[in-house]
Amino acid sequence: MRSDLQRAGDATGLRACVAKWRLAGARIGLVPTMGNLHAGHLALIAAARARCDRVIASVFVNPTQFGPNEDYAAYPRTIEADARGLADAGCDLLFEPTVSELYPFGTEASVRVHVPLLGDGLCGAFRPGHFDGVATVVSKLFHLVQPDLAFFGRKDFQQLRVIERMTRDLRLPIEIVGIDTVREADGLAMSLRNQYLSPDERVRAVEIQRTLLAMRDAIGQGRDRLAVEMAAQDRLTEAGFRVDYVAIRRAEDLAEPDPARSEPLVALVAARLGRARLIDNVLI
Ligand code: PAJ
Repeated sequence: MRSDLQRAGDATGLRACVAKWRLAGARIGLVPTMGNLHAGHLALIAAARARCDRVIASVFVNPTQFGPNEDYAAYPRTIEADARGLADAGCDLLFEPTVSELYPFGTEASVRVHVPLLGDGLCGAFRPGHFDGVATVVSKLFHLVQPDLAFFGRKDFQQLRVIERMTRDLRLPIEIVGIDTVREADGLAMSLRNQYLSPDERVRAVEIQRTLLAMRDAIGQGRDRLAVEMAAQDRLTEAGFRVDYVAIRRAEDLAEPDPARSEPLVALVAARLGRARLIDNVLI
C-alpha cells in the first residue's frame, strides 16, 4: 500500500501536518526508529497502518542512548532508502529531526527521563544511561507528535517495558503497542547489528534463539531457574559468545520471579559475537 510520504525535519512542519489530521478526527500512530530500516521496523508500520488512520515514523539516531564506546558515529544512516521503504509500507509522514531540533539546549544540558529499577538492570547495567537516553528521546517524540498509539518491537523487551512504564507514570494518554519479533529464516532476530557479523559468526548467531527456546522448554519441564540460566550461559560461551547476561524474569516488570507463583516469564539474553552485541528474548 504505497503512500505519498510527507517529510518534516522540524517541529513546525510536523505540527502543521498533525494539526490538520487531528482536526479531521484521525487516529494517529507513531513508530519511533533510528533508521536503516528492515522488515522488523516495517512490521511496526504495518501494525500501525492496521490500527490508525495516519501513521508517522520518526528516524533519528539518538546520541543520548549510546555509550562513549558504542557505535553512534558508525551507525548506518540510510535516510533516502528508509523514506522509500516507508512510502511502500504506507507510512504518511516521516519525521527526521536534527539533533539540535530534539536537543535545543544540547545533549548534556537536556532534561533527562529516568525510569528507576526497570531500566537499571539487565541491559541498563551493561549500558549505563542507555534507557535514560531512550526514555528521554521517546518522551520528546511523544510530546511533539502527541500520537494516540505508539508501536515498539518486543525484540527490545526491556525497552518496551521502560517505555510503557514512562508513559503510564507521566500519565500520557498514549496506548503502547508491542509487536512480535521479526526473524530471519533461521530464527535470528532481525537487527541492524547483524550486519556487523562475519559469515562464520552469522551462522553461529542462531544459537541465541536456540538457547532461549531450550530455556523455555526446560522451565516448562519444571527445571530450576538458576540451573537453567547457568546451562544457557555455558552453552553460549561454548558457541563463542561473550555473554553479558542470561536471565529469566517476570514478563510484567522484569523482577526476579517468585517460584511460589505461576506467572508469565520471559527469558532474555544479551551476548557479544565479534563486533556485534546481540539481544533476544522469548516469552515463557
Ligand atoms: P531501532 O533499533 O531503530 O528500533 C525501532 C523499533 O523497531 C523498536 O521498537 C524495535 O524494538 C523495533 N524492532 C527492531 N528490530 C525488530 C525486529 N526484528 N522485530 C520487531 N521489531 C523490531 O529501538 C530503537 O530504534 C530506539 O531505541 C528508539 C525506540 C527509536 C529510541 O531512540
